[in-house]
Amino acid sequence: MTAVGIDAIEIRTGKLQLDLPNTFAPKKGEDPEKYTKGLGLETSSFPDVYEDIVTMGANAAKSLLDRKGLAPDEIGRIDVATESAFDHSKPVSTYIAGCLEQVYDGDFRHANKGERKFACVSGTQAIDDAYNWIRAGRNRGRAALVIATDTALYERGDPGEATQGAGAVAMLVTEDPSIVELSTEQGYGSMDETDFLKPNQQFPSVDGKRSMQVYLSRMREALEDYESIVGPVEPDTVAYAPFHTPFPGMVRKAGLFAYRHITRNTSIEDDLAESIGRQPREDDYESREAYEEAISEYMDALKGTDRYQEWYAETIEPTLGLSRVVGNWYTGSVHLARASALRDAAERGLDDAFVGERLLVGSYGSGAQAEIHSETVRPGWREEIEALDIDEQLASRYDLSFEEYTQVHEVHDYDKSVDVEEFTVPDGEFVFTGWGRMNERTYDYVE
Ligand code: HMG
Repeated sequence: MTAVGIDAIEIRTGKLQLDLPNTFAPKKGEDPEKYTKGLGLETSSFPDVYEDIVTMGANAAKSLLDRKGLAPDEIGRIDVATESAFDHSKPVSTYIAGCLEQVYDGDFRHANKGERKFACVSGTQAIDDAYNWIRAGRNRGRAALVIATDTALYERGDPGEATQGAGAVAMLVTEDPSIVELSTEQGYGSMDETDFLKPNQQFPSVDGKRSMQVYLSRMREALEDYESIVGPVEPDTVAYAPFHTPFPGMVRKAGLFAYRHITRNTSIEDDLAESIGRQPREDDYESREAYEEAISEYMDALKGTDRYQEWYAETIEPTLGLSRVVGNWYTGSVHLARASALRDAAERGLDDAFVGERLLVGSYGSGAQAEIHSETVRPGWREEIEALDIDEQLASRYDLSFEEYTQVHEVHDYDKSVDVEEFTVPDGEFVFTGWGRMNERTYDYVE
């Protein structure tokens, strides 16, 4: 069977940044270490006044098409995953295609376009749709363009404000891909939850602490479901585990739970038993409370072991690199985690030896659903990852003062109409220009 998977990636960050420990924390009267050590965040990305989900998505997509030398008629499908859409009918993919058609000869007239919604997990679902479309033989040799784009803003003063971010990840899904091959095995954990939602409102209603519990529960169920198909996941068979990263501290917790799960009944549990005992089994306890207390003690001890710390440092920590400096990109977040992992592999000088290695990818969306699958690294991965210009983009972000941040938040609040000067100068990119006669958003390409 021909491999199908991700052939190319481009990342586009919002062009502004907010320094969380040095600019945000002092204004909130909080210890900067709550951000750097607790949540694990340094800076968050924001869109300039002329950027939005369409410009970021279109700019990422243009970089991708240019780099791969693709013409519009070589794309048979454009799916946008977002939870920041401003239109309940016309999908963001049509706005993005319209932008791209301003600069290319030809058009996307015969491409199937759509929009995927399920909070942050929809980026992965859009990749699944592309995979299925190719596997079903409906692509006529053409590639699918999947774009995950979001402006993740919370109400001012909401605890989630610390975890904001904005950016887009464009991915090309093809046969014989250069970066990773996808597989047919997937595990799901899905329940009707009210932890984070936006019922006809731009900013989410969030039960932050509960959302963390729901994330962990659905991820555990997805992992169990995945293992029911492929058998137990063994720690040493996974090179990296990129998870959805609302903030790195969340993944730090998830990583510990995952390690406890995948080492149960293994020789690793036996080895660790000499220093921290065996994992508590519920049947050995008289009450649920006693069992949970024992689990909590075991987890604290596990976290301190060299064995766990080495696994975490190799498998999880490298996936958090981009998230730490851009915040939560919702639908794009897990795809940033994958890119961070691959960037780490390239920095470590891995090349052919990395081909065939496995990534265990954990996606999550509030509401709530987790999905786990594995991906296999393909020859060509390194060239694709080294082509990313995200370091240059990050280095050139405009650093906002707190007052400027409050203005930018208002500019992107759909209920407000404020006039704020742009902070950066558009340069070879799509920009938001205003509203058309039917209240549609309008865009131009600035040379
Ligand atoms: P909070 O209540 O302000 O923060 O908001 P906190 O007091 O819980 O502190 C955060 C961490 O920093 C804690 O670590 C503190 O101990 C630590 P923990 O105990 O949990 O390991 N801390 C410090 N560490 C060192 N030095 C200090 C210090 N002070 C505190 N001085 C919360 C945190 C996550 C609730 C908030 O940011 C929030 O509501 N975020 C939005 C919801 C969210 O991100 N949930 C994550 C799971 S749901 C999800 O991932 C889906 C999502 O992406 C949406 C979608 O799917 O569409 C959100």
